[in-house]
Amino acid sequence: MTSRHIVALGGSLLRPEESEKRSEWLGQLRQLAVHLEGNERKVGIVIGGGLPAREAIELAKNCISSTDKLDQVGIAATRLNATIIQQILLDIGCNVAPSIPHTTSQSAELLEKYNFVVMGGTTPGHTTDAVAVAFARDAGARTCIIATNVSHVYDKDPRQFDDAQSLTNLTIDQLAEITGIGEPLAPGASAVIDPIAVGWAKDACIDLAVLDGRQISILEQALDGQPFEGTLINS
Ligand code: UTP
Repeated sequence: MTSRHIVALGGSLLRPEESEKRSEWLGQLRQLAVHLEGNERKVGIVIGGGLPAREAIELAKNCISSTDKLDQVGIAATRLNATIIQQILLDIGCNVAPSIPHTTSQSAELLEKYNFVVMGGTTPGHTTDAVAVAFARDAGARTCIIATNVSHVYDKDPRQFDDAQSLTNLTIDQLAEITGIGEPLAPGASAVIDPIAVGWAKDACIDLAVLDGRQISILEQALDGQPFEGTLINS
């Protein structure tokens, strides 16, 4: 069986703050897709909501207090971002599933037929990190790559603590001590990894690779099974 790779691409990666970096990153992602397709790799890509999710949830919060309903707003934004990436890959002629699946089991089925399946969120109560872990489980992948806008998992929040240390290897239980496990985040809240995703990775014995997705070369190394700069978490 061709090996399957599942990647969560944080929504912030689609819209770097500097506008010239936006087309540069998308251009490098397209090149990577061409390289992967040339090597007959199968890749499931789960796209986060990033800026549109945060903006839409902030707007809706003025009128809506239900967490589930705010999560639905966030899910719509992830599906918008997923459509952008899906259409870009279709445009360069990649063998991409023509629909954006609503469940990870549908995505795993589509990955049998297509080289790429792009999806966003599924149901309330978790983020796209957890969706990517569930997709990895359903597709029989051993590892789920979480490409985000930080280089590593840190022992504490580097935005708050100057002495935070970056970590290169962790067990899933060590990760759970840092991030928490099983407790949902508030709609639109940010964390290096969603605690629900940590719980699902532990249950399904999925290893996690956390890396800086702003550098496509690092993502490529991880997809090629080479040593990469980031944090590897063994389940
Ligand atoms: P994201 O997966 O984008 O959250 O979902 P994130 O961790 O902020 O990721 P980045 O910033 O894109 O890297 C955005 C929001 O959408 C809802 C949640 O409210 C989440 O906070 N969501 C997403 C769900 O409820 N279910 C899903 O499956 C996905």
